[in-house]
Amino acid sequence: MSYNLLKGKKGLIFGALNEQSIAWKVAERAVEEGAEIVLTNTAVSIRMGTIGELAKKCNTIVVPADATSVPDLENLIDRTMEHFGGKFDFMLHSIGMSPNVRKGRTYDDLDYDYLAKTLDISAISFHKAIQVARKKDAINDWGSIVALSYIAAQRTLYGYNDMADAKALLESIARSFGYIYGREKKIRINTVSQSPTQTTAGSGVLGLNDLMDFAERMSPLGNATAEDCANYVLTLFSDLTRKVTMQNLFHDGGFSSMGMSRRAMKTYGKGLSMRFDDVHENQYPFGKE
Ligand SMILES: NC(=O)c1ccc[n+]([C@@H]2O[C@H](COP(=O)([O-])OP(=O)(O)OC[C@H]3O[C@@H](n4cnc5c(N)ncnc54)[C@H](O)[C@@H]3O)[C@@H](O)[C@H]2O)c1
Repeated sequence: MSYNLLKGKKGLIFGALNEQSIAWKVAERAVEEGAEIVLTNTAVSIRMGTIGELAKKCNTIVVPADATSVPDLENLIDRTMEHFGGKFDFMLHSIGMSPNVRKGRTYDDLDYDYLAKTLDISAISFHKAIQVARKKDAINDWGSIVALSYIAAQRTLYGYNDMADAKALLESIARSFGYIYGREKKIRINTVSQSPTQTTAGSGVLGLNDLMDFAERMSPLGNATAEDCANYVLTLFSDLTRKVTMQNLFHDGGFSSMGMSRRAMKTYGKGLSMRFDDVHENQYPFGKE
C-alpha cells in the first residue's frame, strides 16, 4: 500500500546487493511512496549482485563507488546531483563488512589491518559520505540521513566480533554529525537498530539462525523483517519525523527492552532438563531448579 509519503523527494541509497538486502527493500518502497532515487554500490558488488535489475525496476541509474574512497564519493554526489538536476532529500547508508569475521579471526585474535578496514567500511564511510555531501551542499534543508545499526553496539552478542565496535562508532557519528548538520540545515541523522535479518551480510554473523531464533522468542512482536525495516526507514525520510535526530532507534519487535521472555525461558528450560536427564544426577548436587 502506498501513502505517497515521499512524493517529490529524491534520495541516494547505498548498499543494495541483491533482493535480500535491506537497502533493496528500502529502494523499492521509496519509489512506491513517490520518491526518485539513485543507487550505488562497489563495482565488484554491482558485478556480483543483481542491483541492475533493481535500477530497471526503479527507473534509475547505478553509480559505482567504494564508500571508503573520498574521490569515489565526490564523483557519486556530483553524478547524483546531475541526475536529479540539483540537491536531494535523503540518504541511506546500508553498508557493513568485517574482514576479521570473513576470515574467521576471533575478537581476542584480531588482525588490526582488518579491524581498520571493518571500521572504515562499516562506520567511517558514513562520516565520509556525510562530509562529502555537506561540502557539496548536496542535501536540501530538512533532509534526512539514516544508517543501519545493530544492538551489538550496546550489548555483547557472541560472535558479532569487531562489527560491534564499528556499530558503536557508527551510532556516535550519527550524533556528532547530527548536531552540526541539524544546527546548520535542519538535516537530521539517525541510526536504525534492526533485528537480525537473513541477508548476505547477516549470514556472515556466527550462528545467525540461532541468533534469529533467540531474538524471535525474546521479542513480543517477533523479529522485524527487511520489509518492516524499509517501512520504518521511509517514515524517517518523510516529513512526519522532522524533529527526530541524533537517535539510535531500535526496530526490533521489542527485543532491546526484554530481559527474559516466557517463550525463550521455555526453550532454555527444555534444554536444561534434557541435559539434566542425560547426565548422572550427582553431578547436580543443587537439584533440578
Ligand atoms: N542482516 C542483519 O542481520 C542486520 C541487522 C542489523 C543491521 N544490519 C545492517 O544493515 C546494513 C545492510 O546489510 P544487509 O543485511 O542488507 O546485507 P547486504 O550484504 O545485502 O548489504 C551490505 C552492503 O554493503 C556493501 N558494501 C560493502 N563494502 C562496501 C564498500 N566499501 N562501499 C560501498 N558498499 C559496500 C555491500 O556491497 C552490500 O551491498 C549493514 O550496515 C548491516 O550491518 C544488518
